[in-house]
Amino acid sequence: PFLDPFPPLPGLYTSFGFSLFAFASVVYLVPKAGPSFVKAGLWGRDLLKVYGDPVPESQGLICASVYILTLILFIPFAFSDAFSSHFNSKSKSEPEGLSVNEFPLYQLSVYLSSILSIIIAAILGFLDDVFDIRWRHKLPIPVVASIPLLMVYFAEGGNTNVVVPIPFRGMLGLGALVNLGPLYYIYMSLLSTFTTNSINILAGINGSEVSQALIIALSVILNDLLYLPWPVDFSIPVHLLGSQREVEIGGVWSAGMAYGSREMVERHLFSLYFMMPLVGVCAGFGYHNWYPARAFPGDTLCYFAGMAFAVVGIQAHYSKTLLLFFMPQIFNFVLSCPQLFGLVPCPRHRVPRFSPETNLLYPSRAKLESKDGKPRPPSGLAALILRTFSVLGFVELTFGHDGEITETTNLTILNVLLVRFGPMREDRLVKVVVAVQIVGSVIAFLVRYGLASLVYDG
Ligand code: UD1
Ligand code: MG
Repeated sequence: PFLDPFPPLPGLYTSFGFSLFAFASVVYLVPKAGPSFVKAGLWGRDLLKVYGDPVPESQGLICASVYILTLILFIPFAFSDAFSSHFNSKSKSEPEGLSVNEFPLYQLSVYLSSILSIIIAAILGFLDDVFDIRWRHKLPIPVVASIPLLMVYFAEGGNTNVVVPIPFRGMLGLGALVNLGPLYYIYMSLLSTFTTNSINILAGINGSEVSQALIIALSVILNDLLYLPWPVDFSIPVHLLGSQREVEIGGVWSAGMAYGSREMVERHLFSLYFMMPLVGVCAGFGYHNWYPARAFPGDTLCYFAGMAFAVVGIQAHYSKTLLLFFMPQIFNFVLSCPQLFGLVPCPRHRVPRFSPETNLLYPSRAKLESKDGKPRPPSGLAALILRTFSVLGFVELTFGHDGEITETTNLTILNVLLVRFGPMREDRLVKVVVAVQIVGSVIAFLVRYGLASLVYDG
């Protein structure tokens, strides 16, 4: 069955134009607004520099504001199809007005609930910048912020099945699909907690937060573009993409175009509408945040950008692909767990140590001692984890006379890179982080479109 031709491109071009505008606004506004932020007490010292001048902090607020306004201004364009059919039907002197059934109300609710979740995340991030909220207090907030998304997902009769990889089917006696039911909703709400926090804890060197967000957003965009009905035959990758869905939904694009249902194209268009302006604001902000930084993103940027990723992953139904783009963040999170959950002491800042003499960064260390400065040997579990990390080359340990661990390098990917590759300048380390993120995305695409067909019947 052939679907009606569906012209997705006008909205895409408009969104691209809005994204350029968002980029230019952020480039212009950040230096303009900086002094007001400093005046309001929103500034920080660059920990890895010799100078101590105040650098405006929480500038992610400017990005979030421009981003949210762009998304809101774009609403009428996202639904331009509905307008044009409205006016066309008028000219043919058919009954006036658009009946509720004709207007894509469901898509509108997807769009609005997404904006709502992103706004909540931006508010949370800003409050965190101002009040330094304890993380056990702020952890549940993204879960609450994701309720509007989950409700809309449910309203659509959202899929809660997961495809079981072929090797596990026989082993566990499972079918091709397993319905996770409510567990799937818990997974999706935790996804938003993960995406919001994981970028924030891979931070502390100029440009790191914003470049992670930028590369993930560009990867998501590339993935979305694969699903659009291009008027050329990309049959090799597209065949892999489409074949499974084609059976599920029964839609095929006209000959020579990409396979895929109209529904799938609409979802990826929705994702593009949210990701392109994100790239705009992140690129604009990256210009000022790049080494040596003239502005800091604050938690506001990490939170709203993280929530934007959760939103598209959930609403456009590709959360697992999305997580593949977060591989460096997943690694950094798993590595951080002993410090996050209190097995190993966690200093306020885990950023690398800067030496003014050499102008290089070295791995920073955490002393294994209690709050009053007395040595506190690690618990059996903590010692086991640290020794394992040490064997894997992730940490450097220091031992006391009795062979107990007295110090470890902090458990972040930044310190791992310094342990592995040796001391380096801050601008070099951020380029290494960028390279890691890009390599991660390349692997993600290989896994998603190469390996996936080995373990899943696509
Ligand atoms: C997270 C990290 C913390 C890291 C901090 C750096 C965890 C659990 N928390 O804390 O280890 O030290 O981010 O952002 O992993 N800063 C710089 N250069 C930069 C960016 C930030 O020196 O390029 C400093 C500035 O002093 C800035 C401060 O970090 O004011 C911002 O820290 P904040 O975002 O509040 O830290 P957290 O997100 O709580
Ligand atoms: Mg932060």
